[in-house]
Amino acid sequence: MDSKPRFLFSSLLFLTFFVTFAAAHIGQFDEYWKKKAELAEVKNRASYNPDPDSVTSHFNAEVHTESIDMEDDTANNTRRGLRGKRMNSKNEPCVATNPIDRCWRCRSDWSKNRKLMAKCAKGFGRHTTGGLDGRFYIVTNPADDDMVNPKKGTLRWGVIQDRPLWIVFASDMIIRLNEELIVNSNKTIDGRGYNVRIVGGASMMLQFIHNVIITNLHIHDIVPGDGGMIRDSETHYGFRTRSDGDGISIFGSSNIWIDHVSMANCGDGLIDAIMGSTAITISNSHFTQHNDRIILNVTLLQVTKREYSPENIWKDWNWRSEGDLLMNGAVFVPSGVDPNTNSIDERDLIKAKPGTFVTRLTRYSGALDCVRGRPC
Ligand SMILES: *[C@@H]1O[C@H](CO)[C@@H](O)[C@H](O)[C@H]1NC(C)=O
Ligand SMILES: *[C@@H]1O[C@H](CO)[C@@H](O)[C@H](O)[C@H]1NC(C)=O
Ligand SMILES: *[C@@H]1O[C@H](CO)[C@@H](O)[C@H](O)[C@H]1NC(C)=O
Repeated sequence: MDSKPRFLFSSLLFLTFFVTFAAAHIGQFDEYWKKKAELAEVKNRASYNPDPDSVTSHFNAEVHTESIDMEDDTANNTRRGLRGKRMNSKNEPCVATNPIDRCWRCRSDWSKNRKLMAKCAKGFGRHTTGGLDGRFYIVTNPADDDMVNPKKGTLRWGVIQDRPLWIVFASDMIIRLNEELIVNSNKTIDGRGYNVRIVGGASMMLQFIHNVIITNLHIHDIVPGDGGMIRDSETHYGFRTRSDGDGISIFGSSNIWIDHVSMANCGDGLIDAIMGSTAITISNSHFTQHNDRIILNVTLLQVTKREYSPENIWKDWNWRSEGDLLMNGAVFVPSGVDPNTNSIDERDLIKAKPGTFVTRLTRYSGALDCVRGRPC
């Protein structure tokens, strides 16, 4: 066994950037959206971490303190391996290969303690708690046929509520969104335990909001929405222009955590995190073949950035990506500061896993087949 410290994260992307806004898809930038954008700016400033290395170091410390357990998981020692190991739905011992997964996945009571996950985020988005302070809301109806007055029981009704909600699903479900799903702040969309697919329709939009967890969804074959009147909160709806067909758009938002999401084949980017967003963690997710081979677009508009901060500040704003699973020619589209020209020694703190670990690392990325009452 190779005893070097290793990085065991199948797909982890930390982003930190902070720029000004344009109004993506908002038809009428009315008072409601102006207020929302202002509040978002305050939240984004508060969430911005000016020291990306501290975040990485914090994360590394947790990986390394747990590396001994990880060795146990890889050891082929049947007696030791099975004793105390909790079997998952496939009668395999549950193996969590990173600190985020370790936080909840191998507990057989995860479904009774869903909100435990609100304490599990790491990286830049580690303060994300989603709907922790709210009630559970159960999606029972996969329909999405009324954009302005969605029925209670639909996903759309849940995400537009003004109060915090922890949104779960009553069964396996295929949801075709007729138009962009405009998610409000302080929500968790928790597909664990079911096979929940957002497929064949419009995308999810996280715009000028804060504190959202999205976990265990399949998002694929997303197409642009035509635009129209769409409700975005309990008290407001308005005209949206045609959307791009990204899987998830993150726009002017902060404290966003996307975990165990499988994405493929969208009309535009799989995840488009642009303009004015900060404190985002994307972990354990799985990105496959995509139309235009663009998987994650984290474009920074430097021109707009300069409006907020002097160059000596913004030149260090950066993204980092570790161990993302990019398949079938998928590529990552970086911009902003090139990490290869920027004190890479200091920043390259997370050691890559050897290639032989690829199968193991990828085995737990993407949406999981969890069964309630069993480790996941
Ligand atoms: C691991 O242990 C099992 C059960 O004893 C054995 O069948 C298998 O060959 C072992 N694998 C390796 C790689 O040693
Ligand atoms: C989200 O929750 C936080 C903490 O409870 C609260 O301060 C904030 O106002 C909420 N945001 C919205 C938009 O309701
Ligand atoms: C990434 O997003 C920006 C902003 O929307 C867009 O201008 C750019 O063309 C996109 N890049 C790619 C490669 O799609």
